[in-house]
Order: sequence, then C-alpha cells, then structure tokens
Amino acid sequence: MSTHTSFVIFGTGNIGSFVVDELLKLKENGAISTVKIASRSDVIAESHPEWFSRGGELVVVDYSDETTFLPAMEGVDVVVTALNFNALEKQKDLVKVAKTAGVKLFVTTDYGVPMDISTTGIWAPKININKWFEEFGFPYTRVICGGWPEHLLTKNAGWDLANAKATVNGVGDSKISWTTRKDAARFLSHVLTHLTTSELSGKSFRIEGDNITFNEMVAAYEEKTGKKVEVTRIPREVLAEKAAGGDIYSMFWYDLDMGGGEVEKPLDNDLFPGWNPKKVLDVVN
Ligand SMILES: NC(=O)c1ccc[n+]([C@@H]2O[C@H](COP(=O)([O-])OP(=O)(O)OC[C@H]3O[C@@H](n4cnc5c(N)ncnc54)[C@H](OP(=O)(O)O)[C@@H]3O)[C@@H](O)[C@H]2O)c1
Repeated sequence: MSTHTSFVIFGTGNIGSFVVDELLKLKENGAISTVKIASRSDVIAESHPEWFSRGGELVVVDYSDETTFLPAMEGVDVVVTALNFNALEKQKDLVKVAKTAGVKLFVTTDYGVPMDISTTGIWAPKININKWFEEFGFPYTRVICGGWPEHLLTKNAGWDLANAKATVNGVGDSKISWTTRKDAARFLSHVLTHLTTSELSGKSFRIEGDNITFNEMVAAYEEKTGKKVEVTRIPREVLAEKAAGGDIYSMFWYDLDMGGGEVEKPLDNDLFPGWNPKKVLDVVN
C-alpha cells in the first residue's frame, strides 16, 4: 500500500517529463491511483500522447491566474514541481493554493547541486525560495542529486567520448555528484510512495548515482577503451573571469570546479533498496 496515491506534477520539461513517466509506471502497476499533469498548454497532449493513453490527466494552468491551480490540486496528496529556473517564484502561488486544496506535501523545484558552497551567487534565487519555504511552513520535500550527466556532458558541451574528445572546465580534480534524470525521478517516486508525509516533511534527499571528477572520468574512459582522449581545458581563471562578468554557464562550471558539485554526506541512496543508479560512463560515452 503506497503512502501517497494521488499526484500532480507542474512542469513537464527536462526533469519533470521523467517524473511523469515514473509516476505513470506506478499508476500502471496499481501502486497509485492518480497522475495529473499540469502544463501551460495542451500541446503536450500531442507531443506526449502516451502520457494520456497510460492514464495521465491533463490540466491546463495559467501561472498568472491562481484559480486555474485548484482543479489540478483537488483530491491530490502530493504536488510535485519541476519548474524552469526562471519560474521558481511561481512555487509561492502554487503552495498557497496547495494548502487550501488540502494537499499533504509539496515537492519543491530543486534537483541540483548543493547551494551553500557556491561562491558565484548563481543559486541566489533558489536559496531565497528555500528560505521562504522554511518560513511559510507547509510540508515540503526536495531532491539534491548533483548534475545530470546525460544533460550536461553533451557534444555541445565538448563531451564526445565516442570520438575520444572531452572538455574539462577548470582544473577538473573536484569530486562531483552525478545522477541521471531518470534515476532521480525513480528515487523521488519511490520515497513519495514508501515514506509517510511526516517522514518526508522538511527533508532534502541527498542522492548520487556516481561521484567522480572530470579528470577521473577521462582516465577511466581511457583505461576502459584503450583510447587516448583529446582533452580541451578551459582554465579556472578564464571561468572565474567570465563568471564575474555574469556568464551563467561559467558560474556553474566554476562553482563545480571549486568543489560546489558534491552532494553533502551522508547520502540517502539506501532509502531506495535496489535503486542501482547509472554511472556517468554508462550514459556519457
Ligand atoms: N542537476 C542538473 O544538472 C540540472 C540541470 C538543469 C536544471 N536543473 C534544475 O532542475 C529544475 C527544473 O529544471 P528543468 O531544466 O527541468 O526546467 P525546464 O525544462 O527548463 O522547464 C520546466 C518546465 O517549467 C514550466 N514552466 C512554468 N512556467 C514557466 C516559465 N515562465 N518559463 C518556462 N517554463 C515554465 C514548463 O512546463 P510546461 O510548459 O509544461 O508548463 C517547463 O517545461 C530547476 O531547479 C533547475 O535548476 C538541474
């Protein structure tokens, strides 16, 4: 018997789409009853028809009109948000309506690296909203999973291991936590259906599928394949200069190179026995 059985997810993008998929698997096997999918338009009915043939219920919402949130939240145990970084403040309106609608728990939009080690200020919007949630006092849960390897280490970002090429931003010796979006979504869906509301309330789950530096990744790939990787290195000073100029991309990589990408221990991985998340080189190759 699942501890929570009805869900709505706001935000169907890079990570939200994986959460939708995992929740629908639970609905299909009878573990949960309801998966509402709240989106700003009904375009997803065409782009993801499988979500609706598998039992997802579309609710179109308008973030400038709070009255549109209520139909999405009525009869729901858990609101999961996975909003764009520029829409984080929308969570304030959402959680106020969640409280009125009798929702038990609110999953905040996080899914990233720890924020307290940052020296660039890149995470200020998230730090501010997290503080606001502490003060607002509604039961919340969040997931801190490190970087998404398959999303960050792409050809565009200079990672093309199939052709023995890699780009290391900075010195490359700092440990970084990595979890694929699918594994983060699997973990979240598991804890939401196995832990009670009070066990989940106020909890930031710290998880990682892998813990590895950039230089270790290159060395491991070379050892595994016998190929020599051609590494392009962006010096830390160059990142620092661009970060100081407000370049978000450089701020992110600079923080990681300064040690801001490793999820704080102890980890919560064991809360999902058999989780068995992928390693970076399983998905970046
Ligand atoms: N760990 C990592 O490596 C990593 C990488 C990237 C992001 N993140 C974090 O993951 C979280 C979710 O990011 P994401 O990349 O999944 O977000 P995203 O794909 O860019 O956007 C998620 C969804 O937010 C909804 N949305 C609502 N209001 C919006 C607005 N005003 N503008 C744009 N979208 C709006 C949209 O859903 P609808 O169109 O369905 O309404 C959109 O699909 C954020 O906290 C982000 O910082 C982590």
